[in-house]
Amino acid sequence: MNYAKNILETIGNTPLVKLNKIVKEIDALVLAKVETFNPGNSVKDRMALKMIEDAEANGNLKPGGTIIEGTSGNTGMGLAIAATLKGYKCVFVMADKQSKEKVDILRAVGAEVVVCPTAVEPEDPRSYYSVSKRLAAEIPNAWYVNQYDNPSNALAHYESTGPEIWKQTEGKITHFVVGVGTGGTISGVGKYLKEQNPNIKIWGIDTYGSVFKKYHETGIFDENEIYPYITEGIGEDILPKNVDFSIIDGFEKVTDKDAAIYTQKIAIDEGIFVGNSAGSAVKGLLQLKHHFKKEDVVVVLFHDHGSRYVGKMFNPEWMKSQGFID
Ligand SMILES: Cc1ncc(COP(=O)(O)O)c(C=O)c1O
Repeated sequence: MNYAKNILETIGNTPLVKLNKIVKEIDALVLAKVETFNPGNSVKDRMALKMIEDAEANGNLKPGGTIIEGTSGNTGMGLAIAATLKGYKCVFVMADKQSKEKVDILRAVGAEVVVCPTAVEPEDPRSYYSVSKRLAAEIPNAWYVNQYDNPSNALAHYESTGPEIWKQTEGKITHFVVGVGTGGTISGVGKYLKEQNPNIKIWGIDTYGSVFKKYHETGIFDENEIYPYITEGIGEDILPKNVDFSIIDGFEKVTDKDAAIYTQKIAIDEGIFVGNSAGSAVKGLLQLKHHFKKEDVVVVLFHDHGSRYVGKMFNPEWMKSQGFID
């Protein structure tokens, strides 16, 4: 018989799928690493399990402990799945701009969710960074995951996502394009790929309202770049330790409107139902098209599932209310 001993064993080994219609203006082979095939429907299952296992090993997470994290949903889902099987409690802190589905889904898998305002400085005591830290200090036997600075995040991608992409493309990959939030995916995958072939180009997709692109290009952390935006999962108003700027060749910014429209377009053109950062990544890839040659193999990573955005990017009324469609 061929079965997994539990759901955690099904994490990883996601398919690589050729994109066709949506990238017809690009003269290269474009392949999508579709991470929705993970049990929590996102790439974050990989790093969530790795962060828990490493915290168990180094004694930071003890039996019966409570896992605390500031999460936009996907990391929470991965943590909650592993926590259920391993007997931990979860308390997640989210910003109020995140879709309601994400909050409901986390509650469905047994987590407690605290919602905080988005439009406050990271240092503000009401921010989701501050609230997560405070809860971790107040709740006994708690472990604060901190996916932004936790090295196990990027390591998970160095050990699994990167090698999978290398193997699936038989080492022919020339470019990796991916949205950047905590930086775990780009840094782990990018490091592994560059170790195999230093000529592989690593491109990060950023959003307007985030500090990454300017910081990468100038070394300046410009607070004037920061303002609230709609795109979910990518861009930051901080510099997470997991973003390894040295392995990133460039950042490309995509607008909220384009990210939303391309999220819809991936489903319509390719039949692949994925989330908002995938729309952003595909639009960013199209903006970068002059970098690609016919013989290139470009891999773009789709982080999460479209079901988490049915009230937003897949809802015509919401799209109209944002001025994204007529
Ligand atoms: C939907 C989505 N896309 C992209 C990202 C960015 O991935 P990473 O944090 O590995 O940079 C995240 C992470 O929060 C996410 O949830």
